Amino acid sequence: MGKQPIGVFDSGIGGTSILREIVKLLPSEDFIYLADSANAPYGQKSSETIIDLCKKNVEFLLEKDCKLIVVACNTATTNAISILRETYDVPFIGIEPAIKPAALQTQTKKVGVLATKGTLSSALFNSTSKLYASGIKVFEQEGTGLVKLIESGLAKSNEVRNLLEQFLRPMLKEGIDCLVLGCTHYPYLIPALKEILPNNVKIVDSGLAVAQQTKSVLKKNGLLNDDSTLAPKNIFYSNTNLAVLKELVNNSGVEVSYLDF
Ligand code: DGL
Repeated sequence: MGKQPIGVFDSGIGGTSILREIVKLLPSEDFIYLADSANAPYGQKSSETIIDLCKKNVEFLLEKDCKLIVVACNTATTNAISILRETYDVPFIGIEPAIKPAALQTQTKKVGVLATKGTLSSALFNSTSKLYASGIKVFEQEGTGLVKLIESGLAKSNEVRNLLEQFLRPMLKEGIDCLVLGCTHYPYLIPALKEILPNNVKIVDSGLAVAQQTKSVLKKNGLLNDDSTLAPKNIFYSNTNLAVLKELVNNSGVEVSYLDF
């Protein structure tokens, strides 16, 4: 059982930022990563469409015999994870904007959240915010356009920088001291964000928490692969232009395949 791979999916390449954290914590595991880049961004789609796309992704990963599935996408998690858990008999780990850690860290009691429209409008995000951010002022900003640019390999472009400046200006004026990255594509913007944000503003994301949760759920279910005699295998699939994904995961021994999907 423990030797089966862990499945990880995202609307595109963003979930690789989460996979990286999981691999650090679980170096003996095999992974299958699915980038549904042909359908990115999910953030502008209806909840029903997001659920259908997620089911297709999960069914692909289950056909590959995955023992656990990480939904490495805030938009997919906040719109679909409860239905996925009801529909499939495999443990799921999701990712949500890190409102709770930001609420615990803020001194100014003002926190910014940059996420997709689909995440910010979801019932799950709104109930989490209500639960953990009482007494905190949360400034929400849709990152419209960012995912598309990152998917095109333009995370370091002036276009991205201009959008970020425009998105962050109002919340910086209000005095936030924590910025929550509520989309798994956004860790790729950290170099640009560091140039824009004043030193007192902390960037908060959920990658490490997701990795820790993945390890703990595997352990609880007796699914950890503790056989480190075989070299771990990571396979990546994408259903559109592989170049950007290949560049992100570029290291020896990694398989990147095209998927007609
Ligand atoms: N990585 C996805 C997320 O975490 C991007 C969503 C999108 O495709 O719009 O929300």
